Amino acid sequence: MNTKRILVTGGAGFIGSNFVRLMLSEQPDYFIVNLDKLTYAGNLKNLEGFLKHPNHVFIKEDICNGQAVEKIIDEHKIEVIINFAAESHVDRSITGPKIFIETNVTGTLTLLQAARDKKIERFIQISTDEVYGELGPTGKFTEETPLAPNSPYSASKASADLLVQAFGHTWGLKYNITRCSNNYGPYQFPEKMIPLMINNALNNKPLPVYGDGLNVRDWIHVEDHCRAVLKVLTNGNQGEVYNIGSSNEKTNLEVVKTILKLVDKPESLITFVTDRPGHDRRYAIDSTKTNAQLNWHAETNFAQGIKNTIDWYLQNKKWLDDVTSGNYQQYYQQMYADR
Ligand code: NAD
Ligand code: DAU
Repeated sequence: MNTKRILVTGGAGFIGSNFVRLMLSEQPDYFIVNLDKLTYAGNLKNLEGFLKHPNHVFIKEDICNGQAVEKIIDEHKIEVIINFAAESHVDRSITGPKIFIETNVTGTLTLLQAARDKKIERFIQISTDEVYGELGPTGKFTEETPLAPNSPYSASKASADLLVQAFGHTWGLKYNITRCSNNYGPYQFPEKMIPLMINNALNNKPLPVYGDGLNVRDWIHVEDHCRAVLKVLTNGNQGEVYNIGSSNEKTNLEVVKTILKLVDKPESLITFVTDRPGHDRRYAIDSTKTNAQLNWHAETNFAQGIKNTIDWYLQNKKWLDDVTSGNYQQYYQQMYADR
């Protein structure tokens, strides 16, 4: 089989690095050019053991730099682009939305222009279920649910999705869009709820639960998400949107209590703090179409997945200590001091 040459953006972040490691471990017919700006969320330690893999090259670059992107496409004879790169944290989008527009909207536009001009075979946009807005107590998001984003982050991701579709409609760019629910697993930066709570619990620090703790998220293990993206890459039908989820709804309080139990720490560490402004109440994703069309199903159940994730953080204490030193302390202080 011919080697397929793909440009993965954001491949030093949480999901991108899990995807790159999966591909290099199991898919010898792919050559991966990994383009990442290495923001606070990008970390080459997420790629330890894989950086010098013969089917991998890492390039520190910004997706907003169109000239550089075009040069990379030419030099590496790129056939497919998978865009994981983004500013991804909702709270940061509330305190500073501008960079979300720059990276998530202008950055995606820049990649789309390069993909169109260089006649890329397919553009896969890694989007999110948050573009659908929020749900009441019942129902699930399907691919037909209208876009109704609520945060600056989700508004920027929805804008990117619309641009992808516009490039398909206007210039015939071949594309897929994936919309996945909340991921957890190894290498997640501890600004996100699960690793933040694990880190605080391990350090006997208060666990800051927003509002009443009854907001619901639909959790999926990152490896399941990555395997779904691989299915989209190999079997996705042109122009289709694919929802990705694992039907695993939990309130934040349930998740936090599960973490405390697994690390053997008291529930008295739970501290209710001021809610996130505009906090979406509930997400739940219907991935029936992806299950049926792509023969993909999530394999990790939450009880096992969260246990393995905690074990990973325990075994990778150095990784956790490194990413929570320096700027993280300042971030934590600013984000949580007044809550
Ligand atoms: P992350 O914040 O961990 O990683 C983002 C990566 O993008 C980092 O490596 C960062 O350095 C890189 N990056 C940021 N700006 C860049 C730029 N201008 N140019 C090049 N690289 C840049 O995010 P994540 O959680 O791994 O999410 C990856 C993608 O998946 C995002 O598009 C996000 O919207 C989407 N998503 C995330 C989740 C989730 O639960 N984390 C769920 C669904 C979808
Ligand atoms: O649904 C997919 C989305 O999931 C992705 O597109 C985003 O990139 C990703 O960050 C995630 O967004 P959330 O806002 O749902 O994830 P977060 O981990 O920030 O928060 C999960 C829930 O926990 C949410 O209801 C807010 C709450 N929370 C979060 C933090 C950081 C707390 O109660 N306390 C906290 O300290």
